[in-house]
Amino acid sequence: MAGRMKVGVLISGRGSNLKSLLDACAGRGFPAALVTVLANRPAAGGLDHARAAGVPAEVVDHRAYAGREAFEAALTGALEAAGVELVCLAGFMRVVTPGFVRHWQGRMINIHPSLLPLFPGLDTHARALAAGVKLHGCSVHYVSEEVDGGPIIGQAAVPVLPGDDSASLAERVLAAEHRLYPTCLRLVAEGRVRLRDGRAEVSADFDGAARIFNPPAGA
Ligand code: GRF
Repeated sequence: MAGRMKVGVLISGRGSNLKSLLDACAGRGFPAALVTVLANRPAAGGLDHARAAGVPAEVVDHRAYAGREAFEAALTGALEAAGVELVCLAGFMRVVTPGFVRHWQGRMINIHPSLLPLFPGLDTHARALAAGVKLHGCSVHYVSEEVDGGPIIGQAAVPVLPGDDSASLAERVLAAEHRLYPTCLRLVAEGRVRLRDGRAEVSADFDGAARIFNPPAGA
């Protein structure tokens, strides 16, 4: 674990993104280590993924606290007790307060199932279909006080196919999420992401010439 960025993950549900982060962190030389997983719901399936991987997992049930601030103070207490340097939200379904965001400013990232700034909030796949967009996808971004509005670290585009419904589209976007989140975590943990003027500047080597057309160009 020495030299690896210590990461805490907050979840609410099945935790498939958490699983992708656990798998990535288990890989040789990955620059981050998951040190704690916290769920606000006792039934969150993701807790089992954490435990199976030997990562301490705890329930911090929001219903047990008098208000958001008290709940978030418990989260911060648990994260700090574990020595967390970066918080990853992975299907964490509680809107966080400005105070919590400020506390973890520049140290908390989230995955969202749309190409932000399009479709912040819920029901992104149905809204993408209703809007008729031909490319949908997912984004990993720093958390800011605006819901789903912080600096974007990385995105993956997913074509909308004829006949898609929100379930089929969600399934393909989720597969992209599972590749995008570990990639972005690696970039952050390697110190290759800098926040400047409200944007995330990423130094990553990639094929800048790759272009995406949907429908395929020349078809
Ligand atoms: C994902 O689609 C994520 O983008 C969104 O909530 C969903 C969580 O799924 N924020 P899982 O719990 O990671 O399987």
